[in-house]
Amino acid sequence: MSKGFIKVADTNDVQPSNMKAYNLAGERVCIVNIEGNYFAIGNVCTHLGGPLDEGTLEGYDVECPWHGSKFDVRTGNPKASSATASSIV
Ligand code: FES
Repeated sequence: MSKGFIKVADTNDVQPSNMKAYNLAGERVCIVNIEGNYFAIGNVCTHLGGPLDEGTLEGYDVECPWHGSKFDVRTGNPKASSATASSIV
């Protein structure tokens, strides 16, 4: 394992165009697979705590299942609504 990286899953655990939440150091992290590229953002929506892994994925955007905030998985930044940036792991 390289310094600075922590393994949370095997690549086969998250199929393309899917996402899955894992526990990492006391936080919920959403791992997203887009065409074989993996991204990690905080799984708890910064609006009111919705589980982002249960939302929908469209392009590089994850939409929260509770009120529709969207986050760019490449940056963790919100794209719509009143949510603030999601932490990137
Ligand atoms: S909890 Fe995610 S948009 Fe409200």
